[in-house]
Amino acid sequence: MSYAVTLIPGDGIGPEVAEAARRVLEATGAEFEWDVQNAGSEELARSGELLPAAALASIRRNRVALKGPITTPVGTGFRSINVSLRQQLDLYACFRPCRLYKGVRTRFDKVDLVVVRENTEDLYSGIEFEKGSTEALIEVALIEKIKNIKIRDDVGISIKPISEFGSRRIVQAAFEYARANNRHKVTAVHKANIMKFTDGLFLRVAREVAQNYPDIKFQEVIVDNMCMQLVQYPEDYDVLVLTNLYGDIVSDLGAGLIGGLGMAPGANIGDEYAVFEATHGSAPDIAGQNKANPLGMILSGVMMLRYLKEFDAANRLEHAIEGVIEEGTDVTADMKVDRKDPTAVGTREEADAIIRHLQAPV
Ligand code: NAI
Repeated sequence: MSYAVTLIPGDGIGPEVAEAARRVLEATGAEFEWDVQNAGSEELARSGELLPAAALASIRRNRVALKGPITTPVGTGFRSINVSLRQQLDLYACFRPCRLYKGVRTRFDKVDLVVVRENTEDLYSGIEFEKGSTEALIEVALIEKIKNIKIRDDVGISIKPISEFGSRRIVQAAFEYARANNRHKVTAVHKANIMKFTDGLFLRVAREVAQNYPDIKFQEVIVDNMCMQLVQYPEDYDVLVLTNLYGDIVSDLGAGLIGGLGMAPGANIGDEYAVFEATHGSAPDIAGQNKANPLGMILSGVMMLRYLKEFDAANRLEHAIEGVIEEGTDVTADMKVDRKDPTAVGTREEADAIIRHLQAPV
């Protein structure tokens, strides 16, 4: 069976890591009809759109996409197209496994946790009021009146909507993931001691949902403590469920535990569509130099294979990746002990090594 998949290379290092992922995915023997769609800074210069309607339509048609990073232009008034894509396709659950592979340069022995991040609400909702704008002044006046408090005039305002609906479905997604993947504990991460009506709501719903999963342990941890716990005892954690902003931050922390952003995959999944993309961004500092670690994108491809129920191909590809990491020779500079190690290979060569491992007789 051949799978129609939208492939969005994106910009920055996106095209390089997307090409590496496409090649290794094809080398598994799984068959794809790639529907390649342009998006990102070059597309913006060409057509004035960061994510053209055709790209969105392609994802709606194929329902599955593999996506490279897209730069959010700074200071142009553009909102993040990544955030907008997740909202438009209602990709409400972001799964970011942080698993430490043998041979990775890190300070830890054992890390195998999954960050489950809510993807559509919270401070990412885009409800913001610029300092000095009429809207901001109206907001300030309204809040001062309702709450009987004084707010400085020179504030910018961002609103943090957290709904019961959104909380329930993300916590359910985390528990379902735990059950399906033989995991034993879900930790709800929050700051309900301070934000009683947003994080407090999320936590109350998490407690309720947990009642339906007596086979899985439930735990609550305040987000600041969670960050400390993760760098001290990452082995104690299994599945973490978080609202959008904490999920974003803790995802990068998780990436740091397992060898860096270059290693960290992700999947944005809703009830109808799924978009697989690495945790990292477009890394303009190394773009176009064949230096980017393709593993975050390739491991996102492994997640996509599992989503498509191509379990054998996914397991073989993950095994080939493990082999390359453990050997430690054909890996990019970010995976070497010394980042200036002249034996580091490029993005393309790391993909070649994975393909060699895939094709080696077992
Ligand atoms: P970034 O993830 O692009 O880079 C952070 C650091 O990690 C840089 O030093 C970079 O060189 C390194 N890095 C990232 N990926 C790597 C890889 N595969 N191999 C080796 N090193 C790697 O984060 P930054 O700089 O904050 O964002 C750059 C742009 O990417 C921004 O415009 C941001 O909005 C966008 N972005 C896009 C995302 C997406 O499309 N899903 C996600 C995150 C950021």
